[in-house]
Amino acid sequence: MEETKVQKKVMLSGIQPSGDLHIGNYLGAIKNWAERAEQYDCYYFMADMHTITVRQDPAALRRRTPTQLAQYIACGLDPQKNTLFIQSHVPEHAQLGWVLNCYTMFGELSRMTQFKDKSQKNADNINGGLFTYPALMAADILLYQPDYVPVGEDQKQHCELTRDVAIRFNNLYGETFKVPEPFIPKVGARVMMLNDPEKKMSKSDPNGCVFLMEKPDDIQRKFKRAVTDCDTEHCVRYDAKAKPGVSNLMDIYSAVTGKTYAEIEREFDGLGYGAFKPAVGEAVADYLRPIREETERILADKAYLQSVYKDGAERAGAIARKTLRKVYKKVGFVER
Ligand code: TYM
Repeated sequence: MEETKVQKKVMLSGIQPSGDLHIGNYLGAIKNWAERAEQYDCYYFMADMHTITVRQDPAALRRRTPTQLAQYIACGLDPQKNTLFIQSHVPEHAQLGWVLNCYTMFGELSRMTQFKDKSQKNADNINGGLFTYPALMAADILLYQPDYVPVGEDQKQHCELTRDVAIRFNNLYGETFKVPEPFIPKVGARVMMLNDPEKKMSKSDPNGCVFLMEKPDDIQRKFKRAVTDCDTEHCVRYDAKAKPGVSNLMDIYSAVTGKTYAEIEREFDGLGYGAFKPAVGEAVADYLRPIREETERILADKAYLQSVYKDGAERAGAIARKTLRKVYKKVGFVER
């Protein structure tokens, strides 16, 4: 019997190698990637070009980029089945980024909350790249014609802008880009700081942030010190508005154990925060241990990592070139 090859749907996403990966990155994005690696045709990259919108130490960036790749693999992304690459190795990102800059409006870019946040935090370096960043992100995505973009909640606005730019371009020049959808997890889309549950977890405050490579004792210490809520009942109950601290811990616990909120509430019924916090710490430490150990093992093999990102750039480049050629033709550039 002749086998019919079913075209897999395409997924694409990226993370900036601007710091060590943390459980926000993992639960908001990578976990979703890894769980769907068999089902989809997947492209995942290290967004190093985005990273320089904020000033970096070049040596640290050079070290973090392959380290991030090792972590992708350790999290379950098999380089044979997923195209893993470094953004700056595929020049079509910059090339399409420029074109899309010309189809993205000043007003749209001005409304981006990440731009507003980052320009507040980096008031001495509000550069053009920081402002036009979403046009480059649109290029990252649209080059690969993906169906889905698995990201955390904070990237939804950029994904929506990508859709608007794709639709605008398609309306002007005819069907060119697939209009992709963001793919946001139900649990873990917005992991909050352990020491301040009103703020999104980010590497900027290491005390409130749990890194994938952290040792179990440090993880446990951070969870034991996690800020819970000043309510009188002290019970483990999900209520994101009234109990943001405990609800954040419940989200994390649910994401790493697969338990529902109801199951967690039952498990800790009558036990209070004192029992719950170390239990979450232990569950997270157990969950991260194999990822950390596998990352360390992979990092020791520099030649292997190099072969993965070289091969990834070739595979990604072949797809990216096709889209760019189409776009150049549509806008009226003369073929070389
Ligand atoms: P970045 O590098 O800030 O974050 C990478 C991914 O992690 C998610 N994330 C979180 N999820 C839940 N809780 C948190 N506290 C948390 N912090 C971060 C982010 O939503 C993201 O999915 N612009 C992107 C990188 C990028 C990109 C792309 C993504 C560049 N080009 C193309 C998708 C497609 C960014 O700055 O993510």
